[in-house]
Amino acid sequence: MNQIQISELSSFINTNLTDNFSKRKKENILKKYLSLYLNISNSDIILNKSIPWSNINKSKLKDHLVKINEGIPIQYVIKKEFFYNYIFKVSDRVLIPRPETEELVSKIINLEKANKKLKILEIGSGSGCISITLKKELINPFITAIDISKSAIKIAENNANILNADINFLCKDFFHYSTKEKFDIIISNPPYIPLKDKKFVDKLVYKNEPYKALFVGSDPLIFYKKILNFSINYLNKNGRVYFEINNIYKDKLKKYLDLFHSDVKYEFLKDMQRKYRFLFLNF
Ligand SMILES: C[S@@+](CC[C@H](N)C(=O)[O-])C[C@H]1O[C@@H](n2cnc3c(N)ncnc32)[C@H](O)[C@@H]1O
Repeated sequence: MNQIQISELSSFINTNLTDNFSKRKKENILKKYLSLYLNISNSDIILNKSIPWSNINKSKLKDHLVKINEGIPIQYVIKKEFFYNYIFKVSDRVLIPRPETEELVSKIINLEKANKKLKILEIGSGSGCISITLKKELINPFITAIDISKSAIKIAENNANILNADINFLCKDFFHYSTKEKFDIIISNPPYIPLKDKKFVDKLVYKNEPYKALFVGSDPLIFYKKILNFSINYLNKNGRVYFEINNIYKDKLKKYLDLFHSDVKYEFLKDMQRKYRFLFLNF
């Protein structure tokens, strides 16, 4: 028997996933595994195609299932995630790119697609998913992307190499960052969870994803405030700032903006879950 039907493979994977996962979670893991690791599309699944056994490394599959059952996110187990139309390599040193961030990038592309040679700065670039996608999708932008984590910068540079995107990645602490350049656009999906709230964070996220990508000291808005003040000096005329936010901080951010940046036009936008997830500003 040199071939296996996708339904057989799926039921093997399913029965070897622990019942600690809900039915829905198991389905998601299965779908992600088939598509991301084995390159099996949804239509292949629907048609229940057969695939050669030789495509499946059984000892790797077993090893993956052990790790997934231990609660390690599947993206860290197979070291990849889809983002926009691309595949990004990830490790536990970078945040797993999220669908909301894909939405952020897609909104930015829609707004900026006609503009050429934009100068863009990303603060906290992680895997590089935002900057690299913008480099691929916009018309010849010049992008600088900074992150405090050396390992994150290495991973982002590797992703940029694989996807053939020329980006100036720098390992810098934003709180001590200055430059002679000015930018048309500043983008950030910064950390915002205050340390005191770590008990509310999903256990698996807390255990597996990098601390610096998630947590700030005591003020959840610290990055937003510093980036807004930075933008006053480092944006070109008519510059834009694009943030990802958590909807629980929308009102606090609004208050801060009305108090300290009352001359700047801004808009909060919702994500597909109908939660306020983005803050866009026009300086
Ligand atoms: C929420 S993650 C976002 C990663 C990526 N942009 C994304 O959307 O998937 C925040 C990133 O900010 C970085 N970071 C945290 N503190 C920083 C600082 N002081 N200066 C620069 N980057 C920082 C973290 O290392 C992490 O990669």
